[in-house]
Amino acid sequence: MCLLPTPPPPPFRSRSLFPQAILHSLHVTCLFLVHLIPVNPVKEDGLSSKNRKRIMPDPLTEPPAIDPIFEARVYCNIPSITEHSMEGHAPHYFELMSVNVMIRHGDRYPLYAIPKTKRPDIDCTLVPNRKPSHPQLEAFLSHMSKGAEAQMDGTLNSLPRYPSHSLCEMGELTQTGVVQHLRNGKLLRDIYIKKHNLLPRDWTAKQLYLETTGKSRTLQSGLALLYGLLPDFDWKKIHFRHQWSTIFCSVSCDCLIRNHYLEEEQRRQYSLRVKNNQLERTYVDMAKIVGIPTRQLRASNPIDSMLCHFCHNVSFPCTKNGCIDIEHFKVIKTHQLEDERERQEKKLYFMYALLATHPLLNQTVSRMQHIAEGKKEEIFVLYSAHDVTLSPVLSALGITEARFPRFAARLVFELWQDGKKYKEHFIRILYNGVDVTFQTSFCRDHNKHSSKPMCPLEKFVRFVKRDMFAIFNSTSYYDVCRRRPF
Ligand SMILES: *[C@@H]1O[C@H](CO)[C@@H](O)[C@H](O)[C@H]1NC(C)=O
Ligand SMILES: *[C@@H]1O[C@H](CO)[C@@H](O)[C@H](O)[C@H]1NC(C)=O
Ligand SMILES: *[C@@H]1O[C@H](CO)[C@@H](O)[C@H](O)[C@H]1NC(C)=O
Repeated sequence: MCLLPTPPPPPFRSRSLFPQAILHSLHVTCLFLVHLIPVNPVKEDGLSSKNRKRIMPDPLTEPPAIDPIFEARVYCNIPSITEHSMEGHAPHYFELMSVNVMIRHGDRYPLYAIPKTKRPDIDCTLVPNRKPSHPQLEAFLSHMSKGAEAQMDGTLNSLPRYPSHSLCEMGELTQTGVVQHLRNGKLLRDIYIKKHNLLPRDWTAKQLYLETTGKSRTLQSGLALLYGLLPDFDWKKIHFRHQWSTIFCSVSCDCLIRNHYLEEEQRRQYSLRVKNNQLERTYVDMAKIVGIPTRQLRASNPIDSMLCHFCHNVSFPCTKNGCIDIEHFKVIKTHQLEDERERQEKKLYFMYALLATHPLLNQTVSRMQHIAEGKKEEIFVLYSAHDVTLSPVLSALGITEARFPRFAARLVFELWQDGKKYKEHFIRILYNGVDVTFQTSFCRDHNKHSSKPMCPLEKFVRFVKRDMFAIFNSTSYYDVCRRRPF
């Protein structure tokens, strides 16, 4: 869940309030009050579309109705039934060459507390016989307490490898979050390791590439997924790289104009919010209940806390003045979804996203090209990241129908070789198990005139290396990023 604790009123009092360092510092993991709108709702988590309370919308006059409770449940991603996924589907004569996975960390404790209320009482210790659990949870716990030989860059070494506080700390991964990623790992194991033999039995350190931001929840999520994928892995073969930037821009982060688009996007967000009278009334009402000024309540980012109550089935906080309730929750959640819808229509976020994600996509493309040329390294890649990482990637690729990244969301890039024509390589892209390859801007029209259910690698390469800058009337990242916004 993501929002800026205190959205800047336009015009900003000072531009220096938002220097790049702040925009990409991990302390601001939440920049956007946004959620993607399902244009074609995909069945997820066993919640069939029948469960969605809907009034029949008039397609000509009304946008489709938003069901905030359904959307919130999808967002929580509570482990339940076995998931059906489309990862690894290909004609039998295709060979899987590599897999790049980007994940959002699993369920976490809120990053903010609502002032003067009791924090939700959630236990972040791992207890295998407490629900939700996983058959591998106990073995995971014991494996995590070993592992002195693992290589962890920089500050990662000082982070705990699993959550352990009986009252969760702010932002701490919960047992639900660990279970979500054990499940992701197991699912990918069944498909990629068992079915497609992506890694040999005696895989080496060089065949994996692992990278995480410096938060315990991302490192722990990455470890849980890895454990599901490769149970009882040899710690000596594990090397986690540390990424300081939430957009994984590594050494190519300088781009003034990117921040300009982000500031413009935040202005859009602000003006939508202040136009929403029902939302403003809701904040006023909640502030009265809590007994603090409305401004302070809003700044405490209450939806982040409320989602935690909602996902963990803990009742919303009460004071002597009354209780925060599900109606407040619905109003704020609905606004998030409307905000996301508007975000899709205005192109500011898209422009930001193209520039924000180029370094990461460029790395992914280069790695795929090397493998297509015969290199046998970095066959399985894991980036353990945040909603502010995945959301711009989805936007930049043009996957506008995707929902905002839920807890433990996964975005997978598969590289395949045509077993009949060795020189031909193809990619597939999957978001939470759904094949979104042909929703991307660069492959949208491809399946109409091809017998192969995949996108040629060259199309992806051309998009990342050049075409993604066409909207800026340019052909290169450095050219656009040299520009001054004013
Ligand atoms: C949620 O909590 C309520 C009351 O505390 C309980 O009746 C209900 O069964 C719980 N639901 C789930 C899904 O655990
Ligand atoms: C893109 O990748 C190429 C090849 O690895 C590299 O030389 C170039 O610097 C990268 N560009 C950016 C902006 O990261
Ligand atoms: C690209 O060029 C067109 C036509 O000259 C212009 O209207 C548009 O504003 C330019 N876009 C950017 C991002 O500079």
